[in-house]
Amino acid sequence: MLIGGGAGIVRLAAIAHEVLIDKPQARITLIHGARNRARAIFANRLADLARAFAPRLTLALVLEETEEATTAPHGLLSADVLDRVLPADLPAVDRVLICGPAAMEDAVRAALTARGMDAARIRSEAFTSPRQTDATWQDEEATFVAADGTRRGIPVRAGQTLLDATLDGGEAIAFSCLSGGCGACRVQILEGLGNAVLDARNGVPATDAAAGRLPACITRLTGPVTVRAGAG
Ligand code: FES
Repeated sequence: MLIGGGAGIVRLAAIAHEVLIDKPQARITLIHGARNRARAIFANRLADLARAFAPRLTLALVLEETEEATTAPHGLLSADVLDRVLPADLPAVDRVLICGPAAMEDAVRAALTARGMDAARIRSEAFTSPRQTDATWQDEEATFVAADGTRRGIPVRAGQTLLDATLDGGEAIAFSCLSGGCGACRVQILEGLGNAVLDARNGVPATDAAAGRLPACITRLTGPVTVRAGAG
């Protein structure tokens, strides 16, 4: 069983895909918590995966806010909400991975152990980059330019990495190492390169840095930027 939200869902989607391919006997329940449908990153990709591997992947999307008239469970992934989406055969679940914000992780872990799950079967991964707390950082905005030229502004909280802001803003963006080394999250800064600060060079070639091809996971903003995703 995979349970996650925020940037963690990208990691869980990759794990689900890999397990479904590599372990033909495996069945997965994936519980995906998101603020609302617009911010449910990878929801369409996961739905495609569930169709491709039916009936081995069961999805439950739990929205914190919903304007839809629905009887589906919604709200934070609290014990009450989880009770409505956890599989009936919970004792048969042999492993759980939780990947998401710390508060969600704590609530999910507590709910599972309260329902008798052995804590040794529960694993979790924190998938956030440390936020800078220096008072000189301010809230900024990154404008994303899509392939068709449309623009969308995404708020970047003071000291937040461009990757975290992008995922919070509901844009799907690949990532892996979260340390600037793999290049999966590389973006192209089109305007405002002087406002993009790298935490460390971490192997980013000088030519890439000069041309604005930056790993979003270690890039923070001191002013507005215009960005195109997918410069990897
Ligand atoms: S995730 Fe690897 S460089 Fe950003």
